[in-house]
Amino acid sequence: MPHDYKGEQITVHFDGRKCIHSRLCVLGLPHVFTSEKIWIKPDEASAEAVVEIAHKCPSGAITYTMASGEAEAPPVVNTIRVRENGPLELHGDLRIDGGDPVTRAVLCRCGLSKRKPFCDNAHIKGEFVASGEREPKESEPLETRNGPLEITSRKNRSYKVEGNVEIIAGSGRQIDRRTMVGLCRCGKSKNKPFCDGSHKAAGFEADGAE
Ligand code: SF4
Ligand code: FES
Repeated sequence: MPHDYKGEQITVHFDGRKCIHSRLCVLGLPHVFTSEKIWIKPDEASAEAVVEIAHKCPSGAITYTMASGEAEAPPVVNTIRVRENGPLELHGDLRIDGGDPVTRAVLCRCGLSKRKPFCDNAHIKGEFVASGEREPKESEPLETRNGPLEITSRKNRSYKVEGNVEIIAGSGRQIDRRTMVGLCRCGKSKNKPFCDGSHKAAGFEADGAE
């Protein structure tokens, strides 16, 4: 469960299970994101500055609610960014495995995380090698670029992604535009980031929907 850190203008929520220790928070606002026991002190900076850092947190470990009740709005374009030798970084109106809507998440694509579907940095120890780039596929512009994006971890195989989404390389270059796609989460596809059925020969085992 996320912990709440209440300030006058903003309450910061922190879910440690999602944090991938990119340290953008502690480097960006060290007086707010501290190494102390109460480690988030929202009133040590302006609410605007805290919001800016929250939006940079790739994993969605940091979220917030303003005193007015307002929270982060989904972006105008749903994106899945493929990180070099690393996970999938999602930004959108996300529903992950039937959970509550969130706007940011970092999902395992090496197959090694013990916190699936979330990344736990196991790709580093596992020396996962996978390009964050690839040739763009031919695709039509999406009629709508946002809206709910459902991600379902399928048992022993890929992520099923349903909704409007742009898949982009680590550099930001567009790879594909889809309304439904299967993305590799076993780490073995020869057509990454897409699933090509290699999970079967690899004997990939992971909980998920049938
Ligand atoms: S993932 Fe988010 S909470 Fe974790 S260190 Fe990075 S910015 Fe901070
Ligand atoms: S999940 Fe990796 S190839 Fe299908």
